[in-house]
Formats: sequence, C-alpha cells, structure tokens
Amino acid sequence: MPVHLVEHPIAQDTLVALRDKATRAHEFRRLAHRISLILTMEATRKLAMVPARVETPLEGARGEVLKADIVVVPVLRAGLGMVDAVLELLPDARVGHIGLQRDERTAVASKYYAKLPAELATGTALVVDPMLATGGSAVAALNLLKDAGARDMRLICIVAAPEGVAAVEAAHPTVHIYTPVIDRELNPQKFILPGLGDFGDRLYGTL
Ligand code: PRP
Ligand code: URA
Repeated sequence: MPVHLVEHPIAQDTLVALRDKATRAHEFRRLAHRISLILTMEATRKLAMVPARVETPLEGARGEVLKADIVVVPVLRAGLGMVDAVLELLPDARVGHIGLQRDERTAVASKYYAKLPAELATGTALVVDPMLATGGSAVAALNLLKDAGARDMRLICIVAAPEGVAAVEAAHPTVHIYTPVIDRELNPQKFILPGLGDFGDRLYGTL
C-alpha cells in the first residue's frame, strides 16, 4: 500500500513541538493547522486539472486550474483540528463529518455521527484523522465512505503506528496514507509510543 512519509523539514519541526508535553492547547491548535497545510499539499500533488486561459494586465496567458471535486472528511473530534487547513488550500471542497469514539477500555471505535455529501464516486475524498493507532477508526471511516460510493480515498494523519498502517493496508489496499512519521508501537492501552498523547484532549484542553 502506498504510504507517503512527509519528510518536509517544517512538518518535522512542527511535529516535535506537537509532541512536547509542555505545548498548551492554543499553541497545539496552531501547530496542528500548520502541519496539516503541509500534509495536504503532499496529499494533493496529483489532482485532476483542466487547461485555463487568463488575461493578465499585459496579455493572455495559459495555465491549469483544479478540476477535482474534493471532499474532506474529518473524523470527529480530533480531525476538526485539521479541516480548516484543508479548506484554506481547497476552499471549494465539500465537507463530510464522521463521529467515532474509541472505548477507553477496549480501544474499539464506535460511530456516533455521520453526515456525508452526495455523489462521492467521481471525486477525491481526503479523510483527516491525526492519530492512526490501531487503525480501527480509520478503517471504519473509510468503510463508511466506500459504502457511500467514494473510490479515490486518501488518509492524512499526523502520527501513525505500524499497527494502524497494517490495518488500513489490509482493509483498504488502494488508499494512500500521508503521514510525517510512523512511530514505534502501541502501549497496552493502545496509545501510540512515543506519540503525542491524546490529540483530541490536547486540542481542546479536555485532559
Ligand atoms: C482518537 C483519534 C483517532 C483514534 C485513533 O480519537 O483522533 O480517531 O483515536 O485510534 P485508533 O486508530 O485506535 O482507532 P478518539 O476516539 O480518542 O476520539 P476524539 O477524537 O473524540 O478524542
Ligand atoms: N488517539 C490519540 O489521541 N492518541 C493515541 O496515541 C492513540 C489514539
């Protein structure tokens, strides 16, 4: 399966600050936005374009403009910290929401909300979920999108675990994953090591 390690220096620098346990919620949100911009740039390198013509103040010029129909799908709630960055780059993107919550004891994700745009078959779906731990949440989100008709699906995360990458690979072998890092392992509570802790709690100050 295509896993794209985003090694951009600004992404790596931002990741260190996100991992830092001293980083407070307002700064954490700013950093999540910044790294999401870079990850989105990587995830959208190959998009459908159409030729375009424009008049500059001096003469006509040829170029290309985006043709792709993009749907960005944040996995609630932590994925909300990434969605504004995607919309900054792709303001015409449609937005779907999928609410998934891991059980604190079993780490199994269950769905509590889903609202997806119609007509997903010909577009590109960008699923944004910062943490790919067991992969249960990502696989559930991708299953929902696939059942709703999505074909070209890409997953953008900020920290991935080997177990999560393997789970997505097994369930959705054509999905491209964009991440700045694949961390070492999961702990017994299924948190990523070294990771950055609970992303949603750090984003919203609910620790
Ligand atoms: C976190 C994270 C992912 C999920 C990853 O969400 O944002 O969605 O865990 O874990 P997994 O790969 O093992 O499924 P969480 O369920 O804690 O909900 P939250 O975003 O509301 O905090
Ligand atoms: N969800 C998080 O927020 N962090 C982890 O390490 C694993 C799941």
